[in-house]
Amino acid sequence: IKKIGVLTSGGDAPGMNAAIRAVVRTAIYNNLEVVGVKQGYEGLIHGDFMTMQSYDVSNIIQKGGTILCSARSQEFRSVEGRKKAYDQMLAAKIDALVVIGGDGTFSGARIFTQEYDIPVVGIPGTIDNDLYGTDYTIGYDTALNTVIDAVDKIRDTASAHNRLFFIEVMGRDAGFLALRSGIATGAEAILIPERQTHTKDLEKYLAKGYKGHKNSGIVIVAEGDKSGGAYTIAKEIEKKHPEYDIRVSILGHMQRGGAPSAFDRVTASTLGVAAVDALLDDQKSIMVGMVHGEVSHVPFNKTIKNKKKVKESLVSINDILSI
Ligand code: F6P
Repeated sequence: IKKIGVLTSGGDAPGMNAAIRAVVRTAIYNNLEVVGVKQGYEGLIHGDFMTMQSYDVSNIIQKGGTILCSARSQEFRSVEGRKKAYDQMLAAKIDALVVIGGDGTFSGARIFTQEYDIPVVGIPGTIDNDLYGTDYTIGYDTALNTVIDAVDKIRDTASAHNRLFFIEVMGRDAGFLALRSGIATGAEAILIPERQTHTKDLEKYLAKGYKGHKNSGIVIVAEGDKSGGAYTIAKEIEKKHPEYDIRVSILGHMQRGGAPSAFDRVTASTLGVAAVDALLDDQKSIMVGMVHGEVSHVPFNKTIKNKKKVKESLVSINDILSI
């Protein structure tokens, strides 16, 4: 391997810049050339490349977003699109790739490595934390703290007005963000897709709290929860319980922004180094992750096929603490 390309794909996540920095600097440290690919697989298809030097990644470790920009490429899903990407790589003499993103990014990478003999190593970057084979994905910790900050503020106004809030958090079809943020903010209930909470159960939780003289309520709703989202469940409860003064808040894309936390910066730096090391070690079609504080190497096949489970013990903890 002489020249590697690095790209960020899918939803951006805080800490992606720290990962890019680590990849670029580790490549240069090992006398490799490194090329930044703009806008994920879109840039690969269109040859949107920039040669990167060490100074190109100065002053970015603390920044949210991604200096390489990101996209969810439709064209890369097609055989023709991937052929174009391969031709661009050949022309630019890029002989390996580091892709930073989530499961969509890795699914694309896996097919690409099956079709062409190009080594690809993935770094998990998504606020959803929904990737099998790593305890944490880059961006999750920052997003969690962003959610906590927002919910704490909502709690202030909820208590002032004696209100019940339904707050919807991101996570696609996983409940990691919702579960942890719910525990950390002392939510009265947490609705996640991994566990079906029936309206009746929710009513019971709420009634308990109000009988115990709680003067505000927070229900965290994962966007992927089977209830249909915060507005739907809030309407249902409102119909049955006009005594509650209900409001809904959808936190939205603010959850993806902001300076990465220390934890995300360190994870991103560790995994950036590990990704280039893995390529130098002739690995291909794998994700580098963190398991019990150590770097793990997981084949794309495994990360894509397996579903990461939420910690059951956290669910039980909330059942106890929300009485
Ligand atoms: O995967 C990250 C994520 O923020 C999800 O939590 C969310 O469902 C999705 O991306 C939103 O995607 P978009 O920015 O394309 O609307």
